[in-house]
Amino acid sequence: MLSKKMTDALDEQINKEIYSAYFYLGMSAYAASKGLAGFANWFYKQWNEEIFHAKKMFDYVHAEGQRVTLKAIDNPPQDFTSGPDLFEKTLAHEKKVTGLINNLVKLAQEENDKTTEDFLQWYVKEQKEEEATPAGILEKISKAGKDEKGISEVDGELVKRK
Ligand code: FEO
Repeated sequence: MLSKKMTDALDEQINKEIYSAYFYLGMSAYAASKGLAGFANWFYKQWNEEIFHAKKMFDYVHAEGQRVTLKAIDNPPQDFTSGPDLFEKTLAHEKKVTGLINNLVKLAQEENDKTTEDFLQWYVKEQKEEEATPAGILEKISKAGKDEKGISEVDGELVKRK
């Protein structure tokens, strides 16, 4: 069974994952308002992915015999300057999330909680992808150019995200 300390920390991370979902949903709304359908699609899909991250952790806490306590979700930012700005902020955000996951792993080790440490490895691996993907998109933007033509080319690719 999870310790109280570990449960509280996982509750906090569930909150952060739902915040991430909200953060990306706001980005999707911004992109849609600017006519960037591909960017809007990408962030809409990312919203779903973050909800999956939260659900997976929620289910784990319950499977381990504890109850999740939900907290208020912070307001996400609403103002962005461009499509590339969205991915710069995404990369910065995911780097922060990686730090939070690493702290959870450290706590699981301190608590001698091998089951949670193992469970968290999925997130450690996922975070590599969560950083690599926006970094790759930023590279594509940089190659295509930040002018209307370049952004529209990248937008055409982002619309394909399933
Ligand atoms: Fe749930 Fe984007 O990390």
